[in-house]
Amino acid sequence: MTARLKKTVVMVGMMGAGKSAVGRELARILGVDFVDSDAEIETAANATISEIFARDGEAFFRDKEARVIARLLGSTPSVLSVGGGAFLRADTRALISELGVSVWLKADLETLWQRVRRKDSRPLLRTANPRATLAGLMAEREPSYAQADLMVDARPEYTIEDTAQKTVEA
Ligand code: S3P
Repeated sequence: MTARLKKTVVMVGMMGAGKSAVGRELARILGVDFVDSDAEIETAANATISEIFARDGEAFFRDKEARVIARLLGSTPSVLSVGGGAFLRADTRALISELGVSVWLKADLETLWQRVRRKDSRPLLRTANPRATLAGLMAEREPSYAQADLMVDARPEYTIEDTAQKTVEA
């Protein structure tokens, strides 16, 4: 299987879509490594994403994120899950379309909300009305996600294994 993967498969989409869970399973099926850009950033900074946002600000995080993704795209083909905001940058999108295959994991607002509401790990959702913030981000971002090479439906009734399998088929 490994020999068949020529480019890194990049999982894009909103927070809560299941990029990391599905990406990890997809990597297992394809027999390649799974990498998560948020986890790479956290390890390098020895801080959580929330701490980086609070300490250094979002712009700093976005630059770090773009650099980490560029570096990962330049190494052995793998499955790479990127933070929900990464694919909004035109330069990152261009690099991903040149060196990888992008998969938009698409889920509806209710599914995303149910998955993210109990976690305190998304600094962008620390607002007075996080559900409305999530809806706004989704509306703003979908035109960018729609530029991905593939779209996979990540509705909640599908298991992680089913969604990973559908991604292989796509
Ligand atoms: C973000 C999504 C997060 C993380 C950061 C910003 C976003 O990653 O990168 O909190 O802008 O949507 P996940 O999509 O993995 O939750």
